[in-house]
Amino acid sequence: MPAVTVLDDDPVAGVQLAALRDVNTSPEHFRYHAQRLGSMLALRAVQGIPADGATVQTPLGPAPTLAPGRTIVAVPVLRAGLGLLPGIHDVLPTALVGMIGLERDEQTLLARRYYFKVPPLDGAWVLVLEPMLATGGSASDAVKALDAEGAEQVIVLAVTATQTGVDRILDENPRVRIVTAAIDEGLDDNGYIYPGLGDFGDRLFGTPP
Ligand code: URA
Repeated sequence: MPAVTVLDDDPVAGVQLAALRDVNTSPEHFRYHAQRLGSMLALRAVQGIPADGATVQTPLGPAPTLAPGRTIVAVPVLRAGLGLLPGIHDVLPTALVGMIGLERDEQTLLARRYYFKVPPLDGAWVLVLEPMLATGGSASDAVKALDAEGAEQVIVLAVTATQTGVDRILDENPRVRIVTAAIDEGLDDNGYIYPGLGDFGDRLFGTPP
């Protein structure tokens, strides 16, 4: 699997991303499209997961089956990452869930973890839900914390990213993978991804700007 997968050649994901970018999309519809895109990102992320074989009885006889051979854990980075979680469960219904809360420490300007609760990660495949991969600082911090818990594979799922953010995560975490629907031009003066879609959390929850 490549370290970075960009769904920019996938017109089905493109429709979902366009709706999320559209300034006229209401929070109700934003949640719907975030869910749909979350499913698409998750399906790409778990391509290549070790599989367990089994047999199921059809009305006519035995048929071979496959199922994921690793525990899958989805970890939304609060609060925006919550928007992708329903779509993860649509396609990976047995995925366990952890949560990470990060905020900027105004003294050090570094990401500070104010909440961290995850199930046992030994050998697990962990999907970090960080919709807007801007500087990569928070996502990289999350990946380090999850790696330290013994995850076999950590994959960051983003709606859109900057090349700087992607490079930072890969530099700091050599084993990580990233799946994103797009890589945008860069950051504007306020630290928003350009052209991006604005503040993902605000748009998801209808918080006034
Ligand atoms: N977080 C957001 O919600 N949007 C951005 O563009 C960057 C970070």
